[in-house]
Amino acid sequence: MTEPHLWWYISRASAIIAWVLMTASVVWGILLSTRVMRRVDNPAWLQDLHRFLGGTMLIMVGLHMVSLIFDKWLAFTPTEVLVPFATDFKALPVALGILAFYILVAVQGSSLLMNRLPRKFWKGVHYSSFAALILISFHAGFTGTDVGSLWYKIVAVSLIAIASIAIIIRISTGTATRPARKIDAKRAAPGGASPVPQPEQRGLTVVSATPVADGVLGIRLEGPDRALLPLWHPGAHLTLHLPNGLERQYSLCGDPADRHHYDIAVLRTIDSEGGSEWIHQNVVPGMTIQVSGPLNHFELEPAAEYLFIAGGIGITPMKAMIESLPAQRDWSLVYVGRSRRTMAFAAELEARYAGRVLIQASDERTTSLNLDEVVGRAVGQVYCCGPESLMSAVAARVPAERMHLERFVALDRAARPATPVHVECRKSRKAFDVPAGQSILDALEENGLPVLGSCRKGVCGTCEVRVLAGEPEHLDSVMDDADKESLRIMYPCVSRATTPGLVLNI
Ligand code: FES
Repeated sequence: MTEPHLWWYISRASAIIAWVLMTASVVWGILLSTRVMRRVDNPAWLQDLHRFLGGTMLIMVGLHMVSLIFDKWLAFTPTEVLVPFATDFKALPVALGILAFYILVAVQGSSLLMNRLPRKFWKGVHYSSFAALILISFHAGFTGTDVGSLWYKIVAVSLIAIASIAIIIRISTGTATRPARKIDAKRAAPGGASPVPQPEQRGLTVVSATPVADGVLGIRLEGPDRALLPLWHPGAHLTLHLPNGLERQYSLCGDPADRHHYDIAVLRTIDSEGGSEWIHQNVVPGMTIQVSGPLNHFELEPAAEYLFIAGGIGITPMKAMIESLPAQRDWSLVYVGRSRRTMAFAAELEARYAGRVLIQASDERTTSLNLDEVVGRAVGQVYCCGPESLMSAVAARVPAERMHLERFVALDRAARPATPVHVECRKSRKAFDVPAGQSILDALEENGLPVLGSCRKGVCGTCEVRVLAGEPEHLDSVMDDADKESLRIMYPCVSRATTPGLVLNI
């Protein structure tokens, strides 16, 4: 004979399991995003686990709601289960549970569409899962028929305590963010248009400035009173706003877990336009440098195995990536350069990671580097940064889905002869023609629109805008064209359009 309260038992069990899974999913997400578990948080399955917990939790919530309808004891109708305040039974706590359900649907739905949504929007929706957890706690605390039992109280108090501690950790450790935009009233656009926004800058103190190789200056920066600096992930770069008016981007090369310092290494380039030369001549301990960022267009994807290939100063982002990997992760580094004297961190990396680091100095080699052999053995993700010739050669040998490149100089891309393009800015309700001889970024600034520029060479990624209609002609070197297409973004400092017009989300 069927247990008369079968559906009621299912409803209670699924509700408690959903609450546990919800708490676990939120806590796991917090641990991953704050990098508290930095020594083990890289493999893809750890990230997948967060999604799995969230998805399973939503299934349990659905089962809880369906079983309430089938249960004959309280006899909820579908309307009472789906519409807040449609029932007289503990109307407010039930309504809070229903509201939490819709929030959770939005969180899971936006996660599935993550690559198609603006990151800010996705993040906002994702953060609402904290609100859903609080609503669920009230819902479970006031509606459950087990509320009076000791074991239920123990479970409830434990879940609420765990979630509260995790949320406090999340708030106190901060997050890796893109720089906020602020309006500098002094820099108004011509014609009385709205002021052009400037990246939010902060003054950091130079703690040390010491040579780390011939022609390479290692610089350590820290905030006022050793304040915690914004979180960053390997592959991120800082923009230095130099007193001579130049802006230069440098990859962070320290340990991402060190929240008190930013480390960069600056190569003095022979054809310096005044950036690296100024830094080498003027930066001394104690001085303050204005910086913005960090920004990241070269993120380390979760993988079981990595091959890092660095050429010259291209070692800087690779060093941060290596620092962040758990000890047991499978990785190797091939580091090429003219001579060990000019190769920053070569001796340190070789000593710390013996057997994993292959130094290829030209003045020590009798034969040239066999890239086919180096790349042929790699089955995991390949990260490469260095001279264009090295990156092109590596990219030609690695499937695009496993290849990650970071460029310091603009790629010389074959472009059609520039033609005028009509640009419509949806949010600002402005439209104008950009003549062939003007960059779209310059035209946006001229019209007082809120887009930041920095390198103006299609390298740094600062000027990123979202495209709502039209087809951009990507001429930058920030990221793969396929990624830009899927994200519907472009970099207007260099890119143009293959269609007569573009509609931008600014
Ligand atoms: S300003 Fe650097 S990519 Fe456009």
